[in-house]
Amino acid sequence: MKRTIINELLHQNEFGNKVLVKGWVRNRRGSKNVAFVALNDGSCINNIQIVVDFANLGEEVMEGINVGASLSVEGLLMESKGGGQRMEIIAEKITLLGPADPNKYPLQPKRHSLEFLREIAHLRFRTNTFGAITRIRHAMIFAVHNYFNDRGFYNIHTPIITASDAEGAGEMFQVTTMDLKNPILNEEGNVDYKQDFFGKKTNLTVSGQLEAELAALAMGRVYTFGPTFRAENSNTTRHLAEFWMIEPEVAFNELTDNMDLAEDMLKYVTQYALDNCMDDLQFLSKRLQEEEKGKKAEERSMELIAKLHSIVDNDFVRLTYTEAIDILRNSKPNKKKRFNYVIEGWGADLQSEHERYLVEKHFKKPVILIDYPAEIKAFYMRMNDDGKTVRAMDILFPGIGEIVGGSQREERLDVLMEKMAAMNIPEEEMWWFLDTRRFGSVPHSGFGLGFERLMLFVTGMGNIRDVIPFPRAPKQAEF
Ligand code: 4AD
Ligand code: MG
Repeated sequence: MKRTIINELLHQNEFGNKVLVKGWVRNRRGSKNVAFVALNDGSCINNIQIVVDFANLGEEVMEGINVGASLSVEGLLMESKGGGQRMEIIAEKITLLGPADPNKYPLQPKRHSLEFLREIAHLRFRTNTFGAITRIRHAMIFAVHNYFNDRGFYNIHTPIITASDAEGAGEMFQVTTMDLKNPILNEEGNVDYKQDFFGKKTNLTVSGQLEAELAALAMGRVYTFGPTFRAENSNTTRHLAEFWMIEPEVAFNELTDNMDLAEDMLKYVTQYALDNCMDDLQFLSKRLQEEEKGKKAEERSMELIAKLHSIVDNDFVRLTYTEAIDILRNSKPNKKKRFNYVIEGWGADLQSEHERYLVEKHFKKPVILIDYPAEIKAFYMRMNDDGKTVRAMDILFPGIGEIVGGSQREERLDVLMEKMAAMNIPEEEMWWFLDTRRFGSVPHSGFGLGFERLMLFVTGMGNIRDVIPFPRAPKQAEF
């Protein structure tokens, strides 16, 4: 007999047929004559109820059927007499596939803390919360590819090992095959990377942008969606050492086109979640409301589904860095010195507390900030005519802060080379990047969307380590 996926089963309207399901026990309860087993196979948030009538099957059949055990169940699909579920399977044959010792299995049908679940990330897929997150994560990946495919973008695989440092942040994981205890040294006594595997110093990429630019300047519209790595020692709820980034790059696009693209894409993927993940979103919404029960009304977050609708239905606010600084300088928390970093004046780098003030308190909507001071942004951003700001664009989201970072790129060879010299970026190492400005250069723009930040937003989860299956963070590389 062919197995039916539980999600398909739960959408059926025909009853009385024999079915076969397989899955893991989420719960069991019962009385003297009958047991009810909640079975889940990962296909949806809901379980199928299995009714085990001892008169037919004997009480012994329940032996070993504990939470966490895997089962194969054959039986009749019937409309349910009890409340709480539309249908149930009246079991005719139950096979225990793999037992789970109730004294040792760490998951029980109760609320476990997210911290505890992080320690058992190998099993947390079996919880409602991580099941929902995993399905939504898949849907969002699919939505991203759909969005770009429908609009004529080409997906480019950019390298994971590189010799360049796109962001100039200097916080990278080195890649080497050298013996760390006995590295090969040159005459000056420094490590001789010419002898290393790639013949030069290499690292895990922090961004696929520079290579995406090369492709865009021939293919027109491209995007990358790959893993990126940052060795910053930031132990926050918004940072991972390994995260996934979506980076479109478009020839002939200027900053306004770039903002339009990012806003449209964020709305599309949010709408995609609303259209395709409603059961999981409703579960996560309830979960969040329960978690925030103890909080004061003004500290509670907006209901998840209403929040997602508000993104789709409202235009993002667009303003310049200079305008944002004016708002922040005159804000209450700045005047009362309640910000950890008080804004003194123009040129200050914005911290997440400032970003969140703008989005959550001042505008109460997503904000696109543009035209940042050149000093606080990467070398590749296009210089404005004022000579001090660049065509940068950061998108700030409620509850998240920065979700997108991007810019129009500097396409003028002379301006770019001047900038690189000022920032001590060696021309010889970037000859290939500069070549695109030597031959057929055109205005172009792109951005990077942190996929896990997007996941935080869509799921309403509070910690980025809970929206990726196996988080990598300082001192954390288990599993
Ligand atoms: O602002 P960032 O550093 O921009 C770039 O890397 C550009 N090269 C992108 C481009 O223009 N193609 O990073 C982009 C986004 C951030 O806005 C944030 O959402 C996410 O990547 N991000 C992180 N997400 C999780 N953990 C971290 N440590 C992150 N650092 C950045
Ligand atoms: Mg950024």
